[in-house]
Amino acid sequence: MDLILASNNAGKIKEINELLNGAYNIISLQAAGITEDIPEPFFTFEENALAKAKYAFEKTGIVTFAEDSGLVVPALNGDPGVFSARYAGEPKNDLANTKKLLKELEGITDRDAYYTTIICIAGMENVHYFSGKCEGRIATEMQGNGGFGYDPVFIPNGYDQTFGELPSAVKAGISHRAKAMKSFIAFLEAR
Ligand code: IMP
Repeated sequence: MDLILASNNAGKIKEINELLNGAYNIISLQAAGITEDIPEPFFTFEENALAKAKYAFEKTGIVTFAEDSGLVVPALNGDPGVFSARYAGEPKNDLANTKKLLKELEGITDRDAYYTTIICIAGMENVHYFSGKCEGRIATEMQGNGGFGYDPVFIPNGYDQTFGELPSAVKAGISHRAKAMKSFIAFLEAR
C-alpha cells in the first residue's frame, strides 16, 4: 500500500520508516511533488496533523498520514508545545530551540516534561487519529547527539541518560512516536 508521509523532518521520517520496517511504501512529500512547507497554523497537535494530512491528500489523491509532535514542559505552562519546532523563532533550528529551553528552565527545579505525538490519516472513508506520549525530565545540559530536536536534553523515565545518549533502539521501544505508530500499524493491519 502506498502512503504519503506529510513531513519534511528528516529525523521523524527516519524513525517512522524504521518503525514501519518496510511494511508500506512510504512516499515523502518531496517525492509526491510537494516542496512547499505545509502551514501548521493551529494551537493543537490534532488540528495541525489533520491540516498536513489533508493538504497532501487533496493535492495528490493518495492516502496520507501526518504526525504532529512536540515537547510539553508543565513548569513552562506547556511550552514549547505545538511551537516546539520553532520555539527559538524562524528558521527552525533544533540547537537554538534546545538552548532556549535550557535558559527558560534555569533556576527551575521542576524539570518534568513529556513528548507527545498525534498521527492523523486522511483519504480513507473517515479521518483517524492515533496518539502516544513519553514522559521524562529535562537535563541541565546537553548530552549526546543521537536522535533529533530536544533529544540531547530529554531523559526518559526509567533512565539516567538522554535520548541523545541512549541507543536508538531504546528510543524506538518507548518513544511517543513508537507508541502512536504501534496503534497506527495495528489499525492498518486490521483493515
Ligand atoms: P512538527 O514537525 O511541527 O510536528 O514539530 C515537531 C517538533 O517537536 C520537532 O521539530 C522537535 O522540536 C520536537 N520533537 C518532536 N518529536 C521529537 C523527538 O522525538 N525528539 C526530539 N524532539 C522532538
